Amino acid sequence: MEPESHKEGGFGRTVCVLTGASRGFGRSLAQLLAGLLSPGSVLLLTARNEEALKQLEAELVAEHPGLRVVWVPADLGSDAGLQQLLGALRDLPRPEGLQRLLLINNAATLGDVSKGFLNLSDPAEPFKGWALYCAGKAARAMLFQVLAAEEPSVRVLSYDP
Ligand SMILES: NC(=O)c1ccc[n+]([C@@H]2O[C@H](COP(=O)([O-])OP(=O)(O)OC[C@H]3O[C@@H](n4cnc5c(N)ncnc54)[C@H](OP(=O)(O)O)[C@@H]3O)[C@@H](O)[C@H]2O)c1
Repeated sequence: MEPESHKEGGFGRTVCVLTGASRGFGRSLAQLLAGLLSPGSVLLLTARNEEALKQLEAELVAEHPGLRVVWVPADLGSDAGLQQLLGALRDLPRPEGLQRLLLINNAATLGDVSKGFLNLSDPAEPFKGWALYCAGKAARAMLFQVLAAEEPSVRVLSYDP
């Protein structure tokens, strides 16, 4: 029999990892997701802005007292940041009766959009513009298609409005 939370369109008891949660789409998504996670679920929020993550945690816990919110300030553009997040993932409590693991990798940057294609010729340039941004998204789309083909037990959604 389907768990009650599934009938209501929820995700059941879940461990959810959401990157880019400090603002924009990710922050809004965190608020929507929190209502779909059954009590006892764990929501791990990450971004670089620690204050914004703390503020979001306070809001979510006040509205959803059964939800455990963990935040990890990390720069995912660096190996150190990635290791911080992986360490936090390893230490996450595994909820009893876990039904789902949900990873939403939303963190990204538009970079310096004032630069056009022809100004992106310096390989050492620290900012990416639209050309590199779009190339990254295209790479992600193919990577996820391959992941979906190779791992049929993983449901993969590459959402790009
Ligand atoms: N806005 C659009 O029109 C649009 C359209 C299509 C796709 N998208 C995609 O949708 C996603 C969210 O867009 P958005 O408009 O909500 O962007 P946003 O407001 O700029 O938010 C980006 C999020 O990513 C985090 N982030 C950026 N660089 C990071 C890094 N190095 N390490 C860790 N976290 C980092 C930011 O947090 P911190 O700064 O605190 O680290 C922030 O929480 C992105 O993947 C974007 O490419 C957006």
